[in-house]
Amino acid sequence: MKTDKADILALLRNSEDYVSGQQLCDRFGVTRTAVWKVINQLKEEGYRIESISGRGYRLIEGPEDILSQSEIVSRLTTEWAGRKVYYYDVTGSTNNDAKRCGEEGDPHGTVVVADIQNAGKGRRGRGWQTLSGTALAFTILLRPEFAPDKASMITLVMALSVAEAVEEVLEGAEGAVTTIKWPNDIVLNKKKICGMLTEMTMTPEMDEIQYIVVGAGINVNNASLEEFSEEIRKTATSLKIETGRQINRAELLEKILLRFEDNYATFLKTLDLSELKEAYQSHLQGVGGEVRVLDPVGEYVGVSQGIDDKGELIVVKENGEKVQVYAGEVSVRGLYGYV
Ligand code: BTN
Repeated sequence: MKTDKADILALLRNSEDYVSGQQLCDRFGVTRTAVWKVINQLKEEGYRIESISGRGYRLIEGPEDILSQSEIVSRLTTEWAGRKVYYYDVTGSTNNDAKRCGEEGDPHGTVVVADIQNAGKGRRGRGWQTLSGTALAFTILLRPEFAPDKASMITLVMALSVAEAVEEVLEGAEGAVTTIKWPNDIVLNKKKICGMLTEMTMTPEMDEIQYIVVGAGINVNNASLEEFSEEIRKTATSLKIETGRQINRAELLEKILLRFEDNYATFLKTLDLSELKEAYQSHLQGVGGEVRVLDPVGEYVGVSQGIDDKGELIVVKENGEKVQVYAGEVSVRGLYGYV
């Protein structure tokens, strides 16, 4: 669903030389005035575009961080993830929006992105804060053909994809260690930067998946801990707080979707995590260390041995018993704090 604006922006971004007004008109079948209007809109949004008469337009640089329909769409090079994008400046919850897309027939891979969520949902019925200009909150709609019992692994596939993309945008940032806290929190320097919420809707016969939505909320450009509510201040952080870098959220999304498309294809080959386990495990926090498993039927302490092919956490209890911990209602902590 490329808009003219996104098309023009993509062409300018990918050209090293000037692009003439005529080239833009011919390519997109629009008038010179239409091109001129789009260029002006882009300039107003903070894109530095040089126009030289007789040569055309050249994108010098874009804003450091901008989240908009055209910025997102103009960057995408994926095959199916994000080939349809709904961007909102403000929404309630991108998961709820994506579920509506699921009901209304939008295609596999549709992505909903928002700058602000005023009713963001966290796990276990909690809320999720998404403040303007700082976070990346998005949800992808999937229409898989696999059996419902495989669905819980998709969150781990997304967790790996986010961790890999975060590493890419933070490349070269000293001391930035990105890990995954099982099953799907992304942690930077031992504090949480991202949470995920996956929701599945079954067909009316309840035997097949109708659609799954996988939502992720990433603290990207929050400048200080004061921006977080007191409740989460001890355990949360942002990419900017940890590294000083201002990240382009659309670029981060582009990288996540590329990684997700790739990791999802690997998952589909075996319908388990056998081929992704090594990569996931290389990011997994606390393997070989003691963990506290907060199981509603009784808390216990054990040593984490990483995940099995189904994404369950293998924990060896103090009495030597080996347990496979299934994510569901269970939380796992380090012995002395959040990780
Ligand atoms: C958690 O509790 O750790 C999960 C948080 C999930 C938040 C994301 S933000 C995008 C998507 N939309 C929502 O309403 N929730 C998820």
